[in-house]
Amino acid sequence: MQLVDAIRSRKSVRQFTDKPVSKEVIEEILEMAKWAPSGGNLQPWTVHVLVGDDLKTLLETIQDHMKAGRMETPEYNVYPPDLKDPYRTRRRIVGQQLYDLIGVPREDTAGKLRQLAKNYEFFGAPVGMFFVMDRQMEIGQFADLGMFLQNIMLMAREKGLQTCPQEAWARWPNTVSKHLELSDDEMMFCGLALGYEDDAAKINELQSERASLSEFVTWRGFD
Ligand SMILES: Cc1cc2nc3c(=O)[nH]c(=O)nc-3n(C[C@H](O)[C@H](O)[C@H](O)COP(=O)(O)O)c2cc1C
Repeated sequence: MQLVDAIRSRKSVRQFTDKPVSKEVIEEILEMAKWAPSGGNLQPWTVHVLVGDDLKTLLETIQDHMKAGRMETPEYNVYPPDLKDPYRTRRRIVGQQLYDLIGVPREDTAGKLRQLAKNYEFFGAPVGMFFVMDRQMEIGQFADLGMFLQNIMLMAREKGLQTCPQEAWARWPNTVSKHLELSDDEMMFCGLALGYEDDAAKINELQSERASLSEFVTWRGFD
């Protein structure tokens, strides 16, 4: 696969088939992804890969919490509370596109919550990953983690797989930390669903937009 095809065909998939992904394939993805750059070559990440009964146990625990109305204090704010434009508008648009696709009207809070809850099933993916960092890390190391994540998502395309990175998991830090047996020094940054796209699923038709270069590039010294 050409790099351009991997980049342009990657998208956040929110419904997967149950077709399993072998450990060998996941290893190949991670073996390549680990060549991401990182400041000082810290390689500041650790990865937990969950499948089968281990994954099922975690997802059932979360389901139990949700049914009982339990909540945890999120690990971090996914977005700033006072998100400015143009970011606020971009977020609103993609959310609107997603809910329009699956027929959830603006005022249907319960419907939106049902969609949010699917994060905690890894959208039906057979593989759930968690990305963990030492709490000591600074902003730069989170950028490193982003590059590592992108490598994983592009390598997944090479293998015919799709992904969805998931900060939604930051809402369940205690349950995830306990399940992964993390130390107090470790924080789980995000999850990642990995598997085969369910091509028939309406929600996977979502094509998010991107700003034009004129909105975010400043050219200097070119003429
Ligand atoms: C770090 C990160 C966390 C994300 N968390 C979630 C999430 O919790 N749930 C979700 O449905 N999508 C999540 N997304 C997907 C974004 O909504 C998506 O990347 C964006 O709308 C652009 O769409 P695309 O990935 O299909 O190109 C996340 C993306 C990133 C990069």
